[in-house]
Amino acid sequence: MREAGDAATGREVLLQFDKVCSGYGLGQVLFDVSLRVNKGEVVSLMGRNGMGKTTLIRTAMGMLVPRDGQVSFAERRLNGMAMHRVAALGLGWVPEGRFIFPSLSVEENLMATASNRRGSTQPWTLERIYELFPRLHERRRNGGGQLSGGEQQMLTIGRALMTNPRLLILDEATEGLAPKIRQEIWQTLAAIKGTGQSILVVDKDVRALARLADRHYMIEKGCIAWQGDSTALLADAQLAKRYVGI
Ligand SMILES: Nc1ncnc2c1ncn2[C@@H]1O[C@H](COP(=O)(O)OP(=O)(O)OP(=O)(O)O)[C@@H](O)[C@H]1O
Ligand SMILES: [Mg+2]
Repeated sequence: MREAGDAATGREVLLQFDKVCSGYGLGQVLFDVSLRVNKGEVVSLMGRNGMGKTTLIRTAMGMLVPRDGQVSFAERRLNGMAMHRVAALGLGWVPEGRFIFPSLSVEENLMATASNRRGSTQPWTLERIYELFPRLHERRRNGGGQLSGGEQQMLTIGRALMTNPRLLILDEATEGLAPKIRQEIWQTLAAIKGTGQSILVVDKDVRALARLADRHYMIEKGCIAWQGDSTALLADAQLAKRYVGI
């Protein structure tokens, strides 16, 4: 039986990877990956292109079944669990590439996933999402397909929050966006963190992640090559260069 809390912090463990091996067909991508996100924490996952970040998230979301090791969420074993059941446990996913419903309006996109299945005392509502992203309020009647890249990313984040996830997972939070929009997304993520939301975030902006996240993982060729807190991350400039390439 897994311990209920993280021994070091006494915090409840949400997502846990324990020596997970995973991949596609015959090709193995993840090798003995161990990773943990505690309740209330923001954790980052960084690495160069093709190192396995999206594969790790797909494995967490039930799109890929681990070949070995264990994935669990709030002490529930996820290995082999269907994707919709994983989502129903409280994993909210902002996928790489921002999949929105182009023929639905902004508001319909947000309402499509709305739920408060965990009976949260302060659930995310349309009003709170519009407070977080005033731009989405302005564009609420526009079709999803008419939005800029930045607005689409805001909508994807808003839609994931409308599921009232216990853990919000963002794959490439700011990739491909203009600097001003990136900054806006980082500020919004800090505000989301301020509500106590647990977050796992993938991005390559080491400085922004050092400010936002509590702990960090660097992945290289499918193995966790480094992990530590923001102080340790900023103390060694070689880490970003070596594992993220910047
Ligand atoms: N659907 C797939 N089928 C087969 N191989 C895949 C598939 N998706 C990814 N891969 C391979 O798995 C490895 C890891 O890819 P992954 O997408 O997890 O990397 P990543 O770290 O998310 O990269 P990026 O920073 O470019 O998003 C790569 O070698 C990639 O070619
Ligand atoms: Mg990726």
